[in-house]
Amino acid sequence: MEHFLSEKSTSMREKVIILDFGGQYSMLIARRIREAGVYCELMPHNTPWNKIEEAEPAGIILSGSPASVYGPDAPQCDPKIYKGGIPVLGICYGMQLLARDLGGTVKKGNRSEFGRTTFEIIEAEPLFIDDLFKNRKSLYGWMSHQDEVLEAPHGFSVLARTENDAIAAIGDHDRKIYGVQFHPEVFHTPGGGSILKSFLYNVCRCSRTWSARSFVEDAVLEIRQAVGEKDKVVCALSGGVDSTVVAFMLDQALGERAKYIFVDHGLLRLDEARQVSRLFSERLRGRFMHIDARERFLQKLAGVTDPEEKRKIIGAEFIAVFKETALSMGDISFLAQGTIYPDIIESGSVKGAAVIKSHHNVGGLPEELGFDLIEPLRELFKDEVRLVGVELGLPESILKRQPFPGPGLAVRIIGEITAEKLALLQKADAIFREEVGKAEQDGELWQYFAVLTGINVVGVKGDDRHYGPVIALRAVVSEDAMTADWARLPHDLLEKVSARITGEIPEAARVVYDITSKPPGTIEWE
Ligand code: XMP
Repeated sequence: MEHFLSEKSTSMREKVIILDFGGQYSMLIARRIREAGVYCELMPHNTPWNKIEEAEPAGIILSGSPASVYGPDAPQCDPKIYKGGIPVLGICYGMQLLARDLGGTVKKGNRSEFGRTTFEIIEAEPLFIDDLFKNRKSLYGWMSHQDEVLEAPHGFSVLARTENDAIAAIGDHDRKIYGVQFHPEVFHTPGGGSILKSFLYNVCRCSRTWSARSFVEDAVLEIRQAVGEKDKVVCALSGGVDSTVVAFMLDQALGERAKYIFVDHGLLRLDEARQVSRLFSERLRGRFMHIDARERFLQKLAGVTDPEEKRKIIGAEFIAVFKETALSMGDISFLAQGTIYPDIIESGSVKGAAVIKSHHNVGGLPEELGFDLIEPLRELFKDEVRLVGVELGLPESILKRQPFPGPGLAVRIIGEITAEKLALLQKADAIFREEVGKAEQDGELWQYFAVLTGINVVGVKGDDRHYGPVIALRAVVSEDAMTADWARLPHDLLEKVSARITGEIPEAARVVYDITSKPPGTIEWE
C-alpha cells in the first residue's frame, strides 16, 4: 500500500520544516506556523540534509525534546543544516543543540526552569520587534528545561536573558541562526506568536501563502496527478467533517471517477444514518451507496466487553463490508479516506508517539485491500479541516458536527452492546445534544455526548422503587482533542437534561456529569 499526497504534496509551496526531536509541543509549533499563513511540515530530527534541501524550505525549526544534549541517546540533526544558508530557529532543546553543535557551551543547569520565567530583551532585532515588546523591560516565557546554554557559540549575540541571568535567546545575524530557550508556541508565552511570525516574515522572508483556498487548489491538482487519467477511487463516508471534505474534494477533482460508500454499522447517533444518506444521495447522485450492515455488526459484537476488542472487531467488520462493496463496483485502484494528523499521531504511526488507542481508520486498514491509499487531509489539524470545508461549501450541519469516533456508540456503552442499549443511549444523547443546542452552548464545545456507564442503581420513579442504568454526560472544550477540559455547562442546562432523560426514558435511573479533564482522563470513556 502506498501513500500518495503525503510524499509528493505541496512541493511547489513555500514551506518551513520543523525537525522533530520528540518534544511535546512539536505539533503545536506546526499549528502556530500554519496559523501565521505559512505551510510547514514535521520531519524526523535525523532527516538527512539532502532530503531537507530537496524540500527547499524557507526556514528550519528545531523543536524541543525531553532529552539532554549530553544524554547517551540525545537526538541529533544533520549538522549540514547550519551551513545551508537557510534560516534556523532552535526552540528549547533545539537551541541547546545548535549552541553545542556550533561550539558553544551547554551544561546541566543548577537551576531547572519550569513554567513562567521572566526574561529581559537585550537585542530586539529580529525576533522581538513587535509593538508588544516595546517599552517593556520584562517579559514572560514558558520554560521547561534543565540544561542551559552557558556560552553562546562564536558569532552569536545574546538577545535575551532570564532574571536568573541565564541565556534566554541567542542569534547569529550573519548566518541567520537563532535560538530561544522558552517555548514561543505555547499559549503561556505572551507574544510567542509574534516571535514566531518575526522569524517567519523577517528572517525567512516568508509570505502568507498558506490558506484553505491554496490547500484546496493544490490538493485537487495532486489528487488528479496521483490518480491519473483513467483510474477510479472509492471513498468511505461517515458523514463526519473529515470524510465529507475528502468527498467534496474528490468530486471536484474526479467527478464520475470517484465512488462513495457509507457503511451504516448501527452505532451512529439518533437518525444520523438517514440524514447522511439523504445529503449524499442528493449531492453525489448515482455514485453513492448506503450499506445497511447493522445486524452484521451487532452479531459480531455480541458478548464482547473489552474496549480494544470492540474497536478491533468494528474495524475488521467495517473493512470486510467495505471491501465486499468496493470490489463489487469493479475496477477501483485507489481508496481515499479522511485521516487527519492527530489520528496519525495518536495511533503511533509517527515514530516515538506512544499508542494511546487504536483508531480504526488508521490501524485497521489491511494491506491486502489491494488499493493504493489517498489521504489528502493527513497533514491537517481538525480546525484546518473545517476551514477547508467552508472553502468547499460544506453544509452548516456537517461543518458544525462534533467529531465522532469511528467505532461510534460502541465506545460509549460500557460492557456488551445490544440493540436495546443502543436505542437507550441514542435517546439520551439526542436529548443532551438538543438541549445544548437550544441553550446555544454548542459553539463553545469540542464534543458533548452521553455515555451508558454499565452501572445500574436504585431510584424512585412515581411511587415505585426503580432499578436502572446510570447515564453520564460528557462535554469538553478542546483545541485538537490532544488535551481537553471538562466544560462548565450552566447548572440550569444540566438540570433540564437530567429531568428530560429520567422523565422521557423509562429505564434511565440516574444522570451524572463527568468532571474529568484530559489528561488524566480521555475524552471517550473507552
Ligand atoms: P480520546 O478518547 O482518546 O479521544 O481522548 C480523542 C478524540 O478521538 C476520538 N476517538 C476516536 N476516533 N476512532 C476514531 O476515529 C476511535 O477509535 C476513537 N477513539 C476516540 C474521540 O471522539 C475524540 O475526538
